[in-house]
Amino acid sequence: MNFLTHLECSVCGDRHSPHEIQTFCRSCGKALIARYDLKSARTAFPRSTLAGRLPSFWRYAELLPIEREENVVSLGERVTPIVPLSKLGEILGLPRLLMKDEGQLPTGSFKARGLAMAVSKAKELGVKAACIPSAGNAAGALAAYAARAGMEAFIFLPEDTPDINIKECLVCGARVELVRGNISDAAKLMNERKKSNPGWFDVSTLKEPYRLEGKKTMGYELAEQMNWQLPDVVVYPTGGGTGLIGMWKAFDEMEQIGWIGSKRPKMVSVQSTGCAPVVRAFNEKKTDSQFWENAETIASGLRVPKAFADHLILDAIYKSGGCAVAVSDEETIASVYEIAKTEGLFICPEGAAAFAALRHLLSNDAVAETDTVLVFNTAAGIKYPEIIKRPK
Ligand SMILES: Cc1ncc(COP(=O)(O)O)c(C=O)c1O
Ligand SMILES: [Zn+2]
Repeated sequence: MNFLTHLECSVCGDRHSPHEIQTFCRSCGKALIARYDLKSARTAFPRSTLAGRLPSFWRYAELLPIEREENVVSLGERVTPIVPLSKLGEILGLPRLLMKDEGQLPTGSFKARGLAMAVSKAKELGVKAACIPSAGNAAGALAAYAARAGMEAFIFLPEDTPDINIKECLVCGARVELVRGNISDAAKLMNERKKSNPGWFDVSTLKEPYRLEGKKTMGYELAEQMNWQLPDVVVYPTGGGTGLIGMWKAFDEMEQIGWIGSKRPKMVSVQSTGCAPVVRAFNEKKTDSQFWENAETIASGLRVPKAFADHLILDAIYKSGGCAVAVSDEETIASVYEIAKTEGLFICPEGAAAFAALRHLLSNDAVAETDTVLVFNTAAGIKYPEIIKRPK
């Protein structure tokens, strides 16, 4: 069914088998990347093959890691729409402003892509229980896909995670533990618990190789939707950074199989001023980031003090000629209201942060008025009712 050949370490290049359960590199501890026989795919998997396939990311099956179709765990995913935002674009002076609305995936966020892939592959390899530390949406997605797969899910969340994320885990039968602190503290507790539960498979961001493969489908999908012409700029709210790294990988794969040319969008990573390790590293021209102390932001998905694969995020930003920008929570909330009022779209704070960054990008000439700019709304705003205050 696919062209998967092996897993390769992103740093030392060590090869690992995709037919066994893998986490990160056994030699150096860094992230493993799925590799495919792209030479064969170039002849055997032309773009024309896609015609008539299901409108979901599973349409790229040959370049996804699942070997047998019966192992695919699906909740009815769809191709997420790219919505032109002409009114907001007029206000900002960006006539070609587009939003890819990931809130329309199962569980209301783009985390569905990565967890659909990780859970499907884990099922294929015989995993019976998975565990995750999460800022919220990844937990909800794991709980849902694990329930669908008949797998147990053990979830570790900061105690101030949005209520809905906790409830969506509970309703799917996952076991949830709340932790004082942030996602790094949740990960510490999970690692403690793992010692007495050796059967748990850890699906933390980039500590298993296949969430990345799910997230890369954002790149395939946007290219196909835009008739194989990539936008000039992609703006992406960044926590663990899987989506940004995944899209960058997708562009490379698509070029190698002849689906697109060599043009790449500038990749712009957006974080919160309350937790901006990637932005700080970018400003200091570093190739990896430092742990961000006392991380705090209402955009819970962006509260990741240090991404495991920060070197890959920064690499994609540098190679693309992009940049990294931080916005305040005030700007983020104002942006939630502005987009809802002008366009009728209630987006999540992480997506709103990405929109808030546009004003910064225009004022420092990182984006030109003539650019086609694609901004990711990574989840549905209705998952965050608490950020909207009722009038007294
Ligand atoms: C809604 C939302 N947007 C963005 C992010 C950050 O995504 P990534 O980890 O791919 O950088 C998250 C992560 O939790 C999220 O929930
Ligand atoms: Zn390695």
